[in-house]
Formats: sequence, C-alpha cells, structure tokens
Amino acid sequence: MNPKITIISSTNRSKALTKTISVYYQKLLEAKNIPTQILDLSGLPQDFVYSALYENSGKNTSFNAYQKIVDEGEKFIFIIPEYNGSFPGVLKTFVDGLRYPDSFQGKKAALVGLSAGIQGGALALSHWNDILSYLGTDVMGLRVKLYQIQNHFKEGKITHPIFQELLEQQVEKFIKF
Ligand SMILES: Cc1cc2nc3c(=O)[nH]c(=O)nc-3n(C[C@H](O)[C@H](O)[C@H](O)COP(=O)(O)O)c2cc1C
Repeated sequence: MNPKITIISSTNRSKALTKTISVYYQKLLEAKNIPTQILDLSGLPQDFVYSALYENSGKNTSFNAYQKIVDEGEKFIFIIPEYNGSFPGVLKTFVDGLRYPDSFQGKKAALVGLSAGIQGGALALSHWNDILSYLGTDVMGLRVKLYQIQNHFKEGKITHPIFQELLEQQVEKFIKF
C-alpha cells in the first residue's frame, strides 16, 4: 500500500493559482490510485504568527491540526509560487511554527515551482531545498518549474506539453522515491 502523499499549497493568498495547481497535481496522483490530501496554507489561522510560534508553540488548536497532518505525513509535494525571487514568507513562517527537529526529518519531498515570469520559481525551489536539507528531508532531484503559468494553464489543465511530461515523470518517480 502506497503511503498518502500530502500536497502543500505553499501560499496563504486567498485567490492563489498555487491552490488550483495543487488540485491539478492531486488529480495526477489520484489517477495512479495514490491517496492524497492538500495542506493549504490559506487556511492557517490569521494570527498564527503571534498565537502559534515560539512561546505560544502548541497553544493554537487550529495550528496544531496542521502540525498533526505534517506529523502523520511521510511524503510531501510542495507547490511553491515565486514571490519576490524566492518562496512565500508564509511558508517559512509556517515551518518555523512546527516542532523541531522531527517534523520533516527523514521524510521525503518533491518540489514544483510556478511563476508569472520566466524563472518558474527556480530560485524559490533552490532556497526551499536548502531549508529542507537543514530539516533532514530527502528531496527528489527532479524539480518542475512552471514558468509563465498564466499562459500555460487553461480550463483546469496544463496546456504546455513539456510541463505535462515533466509533471508525469515527477509523479512516477515520486511514487517510487
Ligand atoms: C507577493 C508576490 C510576489 C511575486 N513575485 C514574483 C516574482 O518575483 N517573480 C515572478 O515571476 N512572479 C511573481 N509573482 C507572481 C506569482 O509567482 C504568480 O502569479 C504565480 O504563478 C502564482 O502565484 P499565486 O499562487 O499567488 O497566484 C508574485 C506574486 C505575488 C503575490
């Protein structure tokens, strides 16, 4: 039995395309009969920066529900939009609120970047890879960069054939990873 894969929609922007791409990725996994769930950072409690971090660790029950999902997960896909040449700050703040060192230690991850510009989140993924390395997470080598995503995602589907191919390859590899 394959373990459930948790897809982390890595921004709290309410109308984020990242969430739509996360749902798309979920369908790719479900087509291979892989159980999935989406962990959507837009559902984080609005005050979590104050109510769930540092001396308040463990005190916010809504945030604790996120910790529980991470604790139960073994494999994670991070869908990461490029914000100001890197990953969204809320993603780092979220992880800063999780228990250390075991939340992601020894677990497995794969990365997908998306951007309006031509980088496809290349730097965002590199930066996030460094954080995951620090946390002791094994990150799969194949990282998918969906550049100018607004031109290549129409009516709920990725329309760029290379993007489709790379995502399929990543899904196949990550199931075996
Ligand atoms: C705060 C912010 C910063 C952004 N910075 C960049 C950037 O540096 N480079 C880029 O190509 N796109 C940038 N974008 C656009 C997003 O990467 C793009 O819309 C992405 O496809 C999906 O973001 P979304 O999930 O918030 O919709 C930025 C968007 C926001 C909201």
